[in-house]
Amino acid sequence: MQDQYGRNIDYMRISVTDRCSLRCRYCMPRGVELCDMAQLLTYEEIVLCAQTAAKLGIRHIKLTGGEPLVRRGLDGLVRMLKAVDGIGQVTLTTNGTMLEKHLSGLIGAGLDAVNISLDTTDRRAYEELTGKDELGSVLSSIDAAVGAGLRTKINAVSFPRSREEIRNLAAMAKDRPIDVRFIELMPIGYGKGFPGVSHKDLFLQLKEMFPGMEPDPAPHGFGPAVYYSIPGYAGGIGLISALHGKFCGSCNRVRLTSKGFLKPCLCYDSGEDLRPILRSGLPPRERDEKLLETMRTVIFEKPREHCFENEQEITEGAPMSAIGG
Ligand code: 5AD
Ligand code: SF4
Repeated sequence: MQDQYGRNIDYMRISVTDRCSLRCRYCMPRGVELCDMAQLLTYEEIVLCAQTAAKLGIRHIKLTGGEPLVRRGLDGLVRMLKAVDGIGQVTLTTNGTMLEKHLSGLIGAGLDAVNISLDTTDRRAYEELTGKDELGSVLSSIDAAVGAGLRTKINAVSFPRSREEIRNLAAMAKDRPIDVRFIELMPIGYGKGFPGVSHKDLFLQLKEMFPGMEPDPAPHGFGPAVYYSIPGYAGGIGLISALHGKFCGSCNRVRLTSKGFLKPCLCYDSGEDLRPILRSGLPPRERDEKLLETMRTVIFEKPREHCFENEQEITEGAPMSAIGG
């Protein structure tokens, strides 16, 4: 459906858990508070939200976390979501540490694509950033996903990096048909106060490193990334520039947190808690109607744009691990 500013909202990110197997310092550092397990939506509740969202024009779903694969039976959820009338693609964002062993189950359930978070290809730096020596399992998950023919992208948040680190990350796309996307660090949760890098600067660095880099106008997904191709590279380089390339005018998404709060914009705490409706005990018809109308209102009232440039106006106080990025 269209929101109050005429944007077509057809994409919902669903966080299935606030738990994670890593402790990335900018997202979910050690000691972060976790919610009560009973507050997490059940898979049945998530599917009901997806069915309702589909009636309102949501066509694609991305499962996020924390780390979605810490939740048992995620392939079962993928299968249920793929069966929802109106839902096309179901994709996953994961840190990749546990992906390899779940890969065949997920592909069998109909998973359409995967985004794997990888902020560094240096083993020491990976452990320093995430708290775990898991680079090897992430790299082997990437190769397993590509080998299995699953559409795969790598997401790297943009921190200050040496040229060598940038080159090594970009090189993940050299011999593999996968896009490496850099994401501007957003001042949400523990990301506030973490040093980020403007993509104006990153673009100049990339251009200097790869003088043959050219814009690639072909669509690569449903999101706001701008893509470039490098001669001799099998995959592309994507820049997701939420701050310096503000794309709110074409934003197509809403987010459902792991506790069932429907959030129309990352920047604000506005939205509605769907969990009380899901657990109201109302007869199914009344409950479903209430859910539909509540979701319709939240989507319609999606804010025009974020205010990341005015940090004091940001009202979202939750960590990214509870929202799902
Ligand atoms: N800004 C941008 N991306 C973030 N992520 C986590 N926190 C932030 C932030 N503040 C990313 C993770 C992962 C995805 C789920 O969200 O690195 O790739
Ligand atoms: Fe790292 Fe993502 Fe987990 Fe945050 S949610 S700790 S970024 S893997």
